[in-house]
Amino acid sequence: MKASLKKSKTDDIDVSTWLYGRRLPSPVMSASGTSGHGAELAGYFDLSAIGAVVVKSLSHFVHEGNPAPRVGVLPTGMINSVGLPGPGVRRWIDEYLPDLTRTGANVVVSVWGRTKADYVKAVEQLAPVSSQLMAVEINVSCPNTEKGGEMFGHDSKETAAIVKAVSQTCDLPIGVKLSPNTDRYVEVAGAALDAGAVALIASNTYLGQAHKRDSNQPMLGTSSGGGVSGQGILPLSLRIVRELNKAFPGCDIVGVGGVHSARDALAYLFEGASAVQVGTATFVDPRILYRISEDVKWLVKKQGAQSLKELLAKKSMPPSF
Ligand SMILES: Cc1cc2nc3c(=O)[nH]c(=O)nc-3n(C[C@H](O)[C@H](O)[C@H](O)COP(=O)(O)O)c2cc1C
Repeated sequence: MKASLKKSKTDDIDVSTWLYGRRLPSPVMSASGTSGHGAELAGYFDLSAIGAVVVKSLSHFVHEGNPAPRVGVLPTGMINSVGLPGPGVRRWIDEYLPDLTRTGANVVVSVWGRTKADYVKAVEQLAPVSSQLMAVEINVSCPNTEKGGEMFGHDSKETAAIVKAVSQTCDLPIGVKLSPNTDRYVEVAGAALDAGAVALIASNTYLGQAHKRDSNQPMLGTSSGGGVSGQGILPLSLRIVRELNKAFPGCDIVGVGGVHSARDALAYLFEGASAVQVGTATFVDPRILYRISEDVKWLVKKQGAQSLKELLAKKSMPPSF
């Protein structure tokens, strides 16, 4: 009852944004890997009401992922070493895409691989369904097995080579999901844009290690650690977005990391992001993407604006509510 009352009050508020050359109804998107492979969140809210659904990173092969435990809870969020398990692009197209397409959501497919050829094969397999997709997000936080296991995303040449190869293979707009675990992310981002990417996604998880409570034993099955996400990383990723916006003004940037509220989302948008992705918060509340999206409307209205664009132009945050 309360939710519908609130919604009706903000029906006239326009929080649309532009990304990948499309107008999205909201700047709030899901983050890859945190809401399943397809329409898993459709039981909680209308997926077409948010900006886009970014599906878990897919490879051209079936992949098992890492040993359990794969996730652990931290005071500031979580740590994971899920290891990119997935059905492979072909099975995903058959088993997950039809339900997701039926929701009317904008769909972004994230792809990963261990070699440049892996990325190319993944997007080749997506070709028959490209009209059902909005964009491809390239996850470069993967070890490059042809280069001694160094992450693709820590090397501007390797990142550019993947982006170029993918852009020569598919017609979809390309976003690159940057790794924050290098001080060269601006250089990597520049190389990705020169190679044909049109959006920068900032960023993936931060490498970390955590022990079980009251123990010196690693929390995760992969004893080497995992990726840290959640509220604690918001200031880190916010800084990356700021740096990217300074280096590439006008470029489409998507802020990711620690978004749990509309205020968090607005922090990224005020730093120049066109949209935000929400990951870890979804594990706390599966409706949170919709809630944040509606709350952004509410904040716009509270500041006396009619649209998100107008609010951002005012350059001032609405008072707390
Ligand atoms: C359990 C889990 C699985 C994830 N899987 C992927 C993935 O498949 N591909 C990817 O690009 N990022 C993946 N991520 C990273 C998220 O998309 C996001 O970049 C990160 O968690 C930071 O956002 P958050 O603080 O809102 O969670 C994963 C994160 C978590 C917590």
